Amino acid sequence: MKKLIMANWKMQLTIKESLELAKQFTKKIKANNSEVVICPDYSALPFVGSILKSSQLALGAQDAAAFTKGAYTGEVSALNLKTLGVKYVILGHSERREHLHENSAIINDKVKAALENKLIPVLCVGEKLAEREAGQTKEYLKMELQHALKGVKIKTASDLVVAYEPVWAISTNKNAKPIKPEEANEIQKFLKDQTFKILKKQVRVIYGGSADMNNAESFLAQGSIDGLLVGGASLKLNDFPKMIK
Ligand code: PGA
Repeated sequence: MKKLIMANWKMQLTIKESLELAKQFTKKIKANNSEVVICPDYSALPFVGSILKSSQLALGAQDAAAFTKGAYTGEVSALNLKTLGVKYVILGHSERREHLHENSAIINDKVKAALENKLIPVLCVGEKLAEREAGQTKEYLKMELQHALKGVKIKTASDLVVAYEPVWAISTNKNAKPIKPEEANEIQKFLKDQTFKILKKQVRVIYGGSADMNNAESFLAQGSIDGLLVGGASLKLNDFPKMIK
């Protein structure tokens, strides 16, 4: 199966910078053995989308509303994202859980709204340092999955992706360092099994957290790592194409 490599540009770029980087990536990236998805911020989506249209790269969003339509000032619906050509949507990212106080009930609604509108949710789960140090990583991840996927049904295994992002390993954290690929692999296997128990489908599980040009290969060589969710390194003109290569 093709590896799924996603660029999460967060809120790091202006519209102009997003356009420029997307243009460069369409020239530099040959996505033959992988599926590459670029996730710019909302404001850049239509512009980046029109650049990616005639390329091998797909468009992703960084979030979507929990509701399909209505009086929800400031929200953006999965329905409109779909119309813009968005294929994947990142949901439940730890930065949204932390800074925007998203709880598991909201994330659960978002997953359902995304699926109803034929977007592929990329559900992020990940323990913080406290849980890791207390030896509660698996318990915590299991709980996050159970809450986010409560009542969720998918038709095929490719309808949903889980992203394992240990919060302490994300590069915006001060002391971030990547997890060892073997350790990530063991947790990813656990996530696959747990997701199978809930959804009865073997969905893809990708890894995110300080993935870069130097460690991408060793992550992707692991049996239970189906791809990468890349933040910082996906903003780098040369590094991201090299990771894919
Ligand atoms: P990072 O971000 O690659 O910069 O650690 C990953 C993410 O937050 O999705």
